Amino acid sequence: MTMTYAMTGGATGIGASLKEKLRARGDTVIVVDLRNADIEADLATGEGRNTAIEGIKKLAPQGLDGFIACAGLPPVAKPLSLISRVNYFGATVLIEGLADLVAMKKGAIVAVGSNSASMPGLNEEHIQLLLSGDEEGACSLIDTLDGHNAYAGSKNALSRWVRRSCPALMGRGVRMNVVAPGMTETPLTDKVFDDADLGGAMAEFQKSIPYGAMASPDMIADAMVFLLDPASRYICGSILFVDGGHDALLRPDQF
Ligand SMILES: NC(=O)c1ccc[n+]([C@@H]2O[C@H](COP(=O)([O-])OP(=O)(O)OC[C@H]3O[C@@H](n4cnc5c(N)ncnc54)[C@H](O)[C@@H]3O)[C@@H](O)[C@H]2O)c1
Repeated sequence: MTMTYAMTGGATGIGASLKEKLRARGDTVIVVDLRNADIEADLATGEGRNTAIEGIKKLAPQGLDGFIACAGLPPVAKPLSLISRVNYFGATVLIEGLADLVAMKKGAIVAVGSNSASMPGLNEEHIQLLLSGDEEGACSLIDTLDGHNAYAGSKNALSRWVRRSCPALMGRGVRMNVVAPGMTETPLTDKVFDDADLGGAMAEFQKSIPYGAMASPDMIADAMVFLLDPASRYICGSILFVDGGHDALLRPDQF
């Protein structure tokens, strides 16, 4: 049976790998991205999010077997508030807007978090502003902070939002989980390596990955395929680290 999925961020990197895997087995994948997509929309804006939701509804009136919120910006994006807008609101607003469509087919939702979401030093006020839906408040605050707070904070809030929201969705037959990649070879990571401030620290951090290397995009996409598949039908509200053991190394006693 062929499936119908919609996703954001399918033009490059992890999202492109997932799109290719699903399409290769005959599934329909509706991609939202800034360019090279079925629906071109800027998820940093309310208008772009609406275009994405309405466009997907039009292309999949029969419902979705899954939705994947993959679009994201790196910690070096400027202004920093763009990161909050895309990584948090670009995911949560679309999931809310498409939940009915996924419920029609009792499908699965996967949000792409990050293993950085659990790292220390995050500004809790920023995270609370995100969780309360105060986009302008969160954006004003984050523009006074730093890229780590913007990026890891957006992924921390997204992961918590998924866990808070998933029981109600499960009651409607929809499973929702987070895949939390570690360092992965994509254009996003290249931008961080190229950054004068963060590049050196990233290179050092990379050396401590227990696996011994960064992930390739398909390593993350394989885990996403599993979370979309009925093989994971009892998994709901999980944060699946796909990071070569990095989180376990850094936080062995927390789970
Ligand atoms: N690469 C890593 O090391 C890593 C680690 C943890 C999590 N992630 C997450 O994985 C996801 C995919 O990232 P990637 O590494 O494949 O990077 P990538 O840059 O290759 O992919 C990100 C995609 O998001 C799209 N996007 C960015 N801003 C957008 C906007 N305003 N509107 C619509 N689309 C937009 C981009 O065009 C791109 O196609 C992101 O959510 C990222 O935060 C990546």
